[in-house]
Amino acid sequence: MTTSTSRGCFITLEGGEGAGKSTSMDFIRRHLEAAGRTVCVTREPGGTALGEAVRGLLLDTRFDGMSADAELLLMFAARAEHLARVIRPALARGEWVLCDRFTDATYAYQGGGRGIDEARIRVLEDWVQQGLEPDLTLLFDLPVEQGLARAGERSEPDRFEREQEAFFERVRQAYLRRAAAAPGRFRIIDAGRDYREVQKQLAGELDALTRRCG
Ligand SMILES: Nc1ncnc2c1ncn2[C@@H]1O[C@H](COP(=O)(O)OP(=O)(O)O)[C@@H](O)[C@H]1O
Ligand SMILES: [Mg+2]
Repeated sequence: MTTSTSRGCFITLEGGEGAGKSTSMDFIRRHLEAAGRTVCVTREPGGTALGEAVRGLLLDTRFDGMSADAELLLMFAARAEHLARVIRPALARGEWVLCDRFTDATYAYQGGGRGIDEARIRVLEDWVQQGLEPDLTLLFDLPVEQGLARAGERSEPDRFEREQEAFFERVRQAYLRRAAAAPGRFRIIDAGRDYREVQKQLAGELDALTRRCG
């Protein structure tokens, strides 16, 4: 069966620091390619030249104390460019788009973490996305302490990674609330398990989506 005339599927990977999103991305890409899909792997903030430059500003520790609204608007500025130049064109070509973090991360970090009212985030979501939503969101859930321990083995902490544990706990709870509110779109991945267990669940979710997306 060919999918060349249909729009591709839009999959987002979400979750806190060190939950295993980047690690799983490669598995997901290979699994879909083995099923004959053309896959576009991208990330937020970023995914375009402008978006990656904005990401640099957002993660730069020189801007500690950036106002929450400036942070929110930069996220959506990068997202507008990403949607226009990468995500919408790829979906229109029938490709499957895999995005490492998307708008749920904004609700979790700028909403839950920074305390920006959800309604204000929704205004920007509607403005920029105009109804486009992921078909599937994989939420990699892990106790904060465990995620930070994993992430801590990476490079120097960026502007977000320098936050306190309480910030990440609010992020985690905001993600879980969003998942509970949209059970059709979200799948929660217990990211504390062995890689193989995680991959088994991912494969099942992807195969179910393949049947749904055609
Ligand atoms: N299921 C797992 N079990 C043990 N370690 C893991 C697992 N998933 C990821 N890791 C490790 O945790 C660290 C963070 O993973 P990463 O994929 O970079 O997380 P994220 O992209 O969500 O921040 C990496 O060193 C990775 O090898
Ligand atoms: Mg990552």
